Amino acid sequence: MMAHGISGLMRPLRSGLNVSKIRFIYLGGVTEQHHTPVKQWSRRGFSSTHKLQDTPGETSSADQVTVHFVNRDGERFTAIAKEGESLLEVVVNQNLAIDGFGACEGTLACSTCHLIFEKDTFQKLDAISDEELDMLDLAYGLTETSRLGCQVCIKKSMDGLTVRVPVDVSDIRRQMEVGKQSKQ
Ligand code: FES
Repeated sequence: MMAHGISGLMRPLRSGLNVSKIRFIYLGGVTEQHHTPVKQWSRRGFSSTHKLQDTPGETSSADQVTVHFVNRDGERFTAIAKEGESLLEVVVNQNLAIDGFGACEGTLACSTCHLIFEKDTFQKLDAISDEELDMLDLAYGLTETSRLGCQVCIKKSMDGLTVRVPVDVSDIRRQMEVGKQSKQ
């Protein structure tokens, strides 16, 4: 079932979370973020790209972590990620065919990098920031184990991680554009 911007669903989590404070540049101002935005970028539109690998269960070497993505249509991608990369960087750097993913290039302005985690993994993730919570509130198909892929960085302990791409995607920037045009 599609849920459109379940505003406030993530809010109750705030009280139990240790909100982190990290620096980032957003809409011309300086606020906080988890990590540096992607530097080398191939713009991600809504076109298809090639599936990289499909080798579930493959063993990772010391500095590599195996990550599985389940796409909207159920197709499964397996990627070998490096520790420290964000999940957005994994998708972009390995050119995984997830349409529209990461439209704002990791600047916390779109929510198209929304991913759903398994409960056990979700509980071990780093603290969520206020900015990420704000953007998640605008995502479609929000769940209790939702996070933004641009804000979650790979750790060795995540080896074998599986994340699901929600069926529906919301790019809040487009909604804002439509809102502006309708007022003109
Ligand atoms: Fe836009 Fe993560 S890529 S919010």
